[in-house]
Amino acid sequence: MSDASKTTNAKKVFIKTYGCQMNVYDSDRMTDALADHGFSPTQDMGEADLVLLNTCHIREKAAEKVYSELGRIRDFRNEREPGAKKMLIGVAGCVAQAEGEEIMARAPAVDLVFGPQSYHRLPELVARADRERVIDTDFPEEDKFAHLPAPKKEVTISRGLTAFLTVQEGCDKFCSFCVVPYTRGAEVSRPVAQVIAEARALADAGVREITLLGQNVNAYHGVDDKGRQIGLGELCYLLAEIEGLARIRYTTSHPRDMDDALIAAHRDLDKLMPYLHLPVQSGSDTILKAMNRRHTAAQYLEIIDRIKQARPDMALSGDFIVGFPGETDRDFADTLDMVKKVGYASAFSFKYSTRPGTPGAEMDNQVPEAVKAERLEALQAEITAHQTAFNAGCVGLTLPVLLEKKGRNPGQIAGRSPYLQPVHIEADESLIGQILPVEIVDRAKNSLVGTIVTSKVQAV
Ligand code: 5AD
Ligand code: SF4
Repeated sequence: MSDASKTTNAKKVFIKTYGCQMNVYDSDRMTDALADHGFSPTQDMGEADLVLLNTCHIREKAAEKVYSELGRIRDFRNEREPGAKKMLIGVAGCVAQAEGEEIMARAPAVDLVFGPQSYHRLPELVARADRERVIDTDFPEEDKFAHLPAPKKEVTISRGLTAFLTVQEGCDKFCSFCVVPYTRGAEVSRPVAQVIAEARALADAGVREITLLGQNVNAYHGVDDKGRQIGLGELCYLLAEIEGLARIRYTTSHPRDMDDALIAAHRDLDKLMPYLHLPVQSGSDTILKAMNRRHTAAQYLEIIDRIKQARPDMALSGDFIVGFPGETDRDFADTLDMVKKVGYASAFSFKYSTRPGTPGAEMDNQVPEAVKAERLEALQAEITAHQTAFNAGCVGLTLPVLLEKKGRNPGQIAGRSPYLQPVHIEADESLIGQILPVEIVDRAKNSLVGTIVTSKVQAV
């Protein structure tokens, strides 16, 4: 990069992000990669030289939503004043990866399409897109993590007290409903030294809590300086040594990869938060098998038992799909039973919808929409009952709360409990950034209300 490119800092990029936390992280890294080439971020599409949609493919009709958004952006571009500056339109993320060619054909206004494996080449792709339409959705052999710039300090600070850090990407599990193995490709883990360096940089910039990200984060197996592969548990021990970093979280996990080392880390490390998102998808062994989940309901419950032995106050979260092909009333009753047995603190639930190219889409025993809707409603009622009970159980406890930001009303600040619940507190905003003991005095639907017990900063 030449100094000249640094000083001509006139270009602006507008990024709209859809979907999961991994996409939020990726958008930040695209911003970082472009910053070295004279682009600064903007929230105003009107002043953008480059508009990027970072798309998600997991929800139904995701691609259709992208096409209609592209139509709006094209109209916006066409309706600008004559002589307005050039504006390139790019599509990134999983829809780009899955439907790159189709996007190029269906949306002639698009200048650039690239998948998650190409983010480190973004500046080069943008430069090419200035001359010709560009599509880059291959899965290259090179390590994209190795090429991404380190997070920019000034950008990192504006990310606040909490930050995401991708440690692993892709998935080799091939659950029969899921597009991720096709859009994000085979599983890759970042080397340990890179993860530690990024975590240190974040801590130095004032970040107090990091969430390690990966589609299958507990399958992490990064190589350390001695050439040894280490798992997520061992990585957490190393991260816990970083001064200033007070809290570590990770998401999303697969039950099969919940190994002893990770469970031991939950037992040993105060910094590793007692909250685990461990999707089970269904409580029926027949459906779990059809989903290719590679575990039974009993095995899942046995893992939960071991985790609770290591960390009795662990808050559990999960994902569920209702109406997977072939799901009977009886299978669904097993799912409700699973929710009751685990007593989730929170959980996400979805109606099954087909994803082209996945085995589930080819199955002929699809469940009618009305049945799916009915089951979803029943499941959500069950989950809500457990969530409410979990929150009610926190009233009267004193919990360490990371005070994160100003609250909705003046004189209020908002933070997070170790169990990821939002906590609203009447307190001065000068306390933001600290972790203080907070007595929980009440609860709302999805949050808690508390008062600070003492202004003494808790040792972490
Ligand atoms: N239909 C419904 N839900 C799905 N998910 C993934 N693919 C599908 C699909 N085809 C859900 C799973 C996953 C979460 C991120 O999205 O529950 O854990
Ligand atoms: Fe998709 Fe998760 Fe299954 Fe991988 S483990 S295929 S990301 S649902």
